[in-house]
Amino acid sequence: MPSVDQRDPNRVIVFDTTLRDGEQAPGFSMGVEQKLKMARALAGLGVDIIEAGFAAASPGDEEAVRVVSGEVEGPVFCSLSRATESDIMAAHRALSHNRRRRLHIFLGTSPIHRRAKFNMTADEVLAQAVNAVAFARTMFDDVEFSAEDAIRTEPEFLGDVLEAVANAGAQTLNVPDTVGYSTPAEIYELFAHLKRRVIDNHPGTILSTHCHDDLGMAVANTLSAVKAGARQVEVAINGIGERAGNCALEEVVMALRARADQFGLTTGIDTTKLVGVSRLLSQVTETPVPRNKAIVGINAFAHEAGIHQHGVLADARTYEIMRPQDVGFDGTSFVLGKHSGRHAVSKRASVLGHDLTGNLLSAVFAGFKRRADEIGEIDDAELLAIIRSATSDHNELRGAHAAV
Ligand code: KIV
Ligand code: ZN
Repeated sequence: MPSVDQRDPNRVIVFDTTLRDGEQAPGFSMGVEQKLKMARALAGLGVDIIEAGFAAASPGDEEAVRVVSGEVEGPVFCSLSRATESDIMAAHRALSHNRRRRLHIFLGTSPIHRRAKFNMTADEVLAQAVNAVAFARTMFDDVEFSAEDAIRTEPEFLGDVLEAVANAGAQTLNVPDTVGYSTPAEIYELFAHLKRRVIDNHPGTILSTHCHDDLGMAVANTLSAVKAGARQVEVAINGIGERAGNCALEEVVMALRARADQFGLTTGIDTTKLVGVSRLLSQVTETPVPRNKAIVGINAFAHEAGIHQHGVLADARTYEIMRPQDVGFDGTSFVLGKHSGRHAVSKRASVLGHDLTGNLLSAVFAGFKRRADEIGEIDDAELLAIIRSATSDHNELRGAHAAV
């Protein structure tokens, strides 16, 4: 039996690979302690499966898989493995403390991988895949098989491999776009073909998608694969992963939620924890999240332009398609800068205890624009300084008028 409940056809399984594919990328390497912190946060977030590492890659990775899968409860823990007995045994050693475990075997199936990496024929690749899955099933109840570089594999041969590994006992069939080459229309066709050819004849197996972002289409491709029948998404927090990264967990989860009208599918993710987990990863890997990052960047719910601020103050839905609280922000943030309008400046001043009107408001607004041109963002301290200076000029002027 696979260790994740796959009975609900409308439930998308979230397989998090932040600690494996993500961690594999330059700049994102994590030690045992860092992986442990992240795994606890991912468990709290509600991911179904955590790929904790690649046990055979190094003694450190084996140790990390052992510690993380032994100490964190909730999700299923998984190790990556090549299609060899020694890798499968290393993964088994590392996962032996947790009964909720999965083995993830991968083998390149595309012509370029068969020729350049293995110098093997298609039949030899198929036989190795089947032997590895059959051997793995003697130790693991839950086995996933990935046809590496599936997108550049001949679709008929890909179907042959997936059918053969399903017959050998693999319950999850992953179809990775290893090099981020696919397009949404193309991946839709491929998944629809594989669903008809393999899944419909193997009840209890599911298709999984794993997309890289080399052409910036990882999230779009993942959603397209889901539309065509994939029920597991392999994703990473902040989209980290090999080269340009993986499909970002927070983006695909919020797309499924915000566009439930299009997908009609659910996940087990507590979306209110997305910002917290994203920030934890940024802290642990000492890599900032870009301001404009979808869902979790600090600009995702921030407005500076006067027209936008005015609209959001009237009704947030004018410029926001999600509630900031739903992803873990306190609320919308109004940034004051050179694009902000008089209305937003007067509103912020009022929150700070200054109800400005008439000439004084005009003077503060003019001072505000001058200073914003110089320094960009105007925080509360700057605004108060502008108000003080304008008020003193205003009072002096009134005094002078009174004296005349
Ligand atoms: O991108 C890829 O093909 C992978 C596999 C190991 C699943 O990361
Ligand atoms: Zn990958």
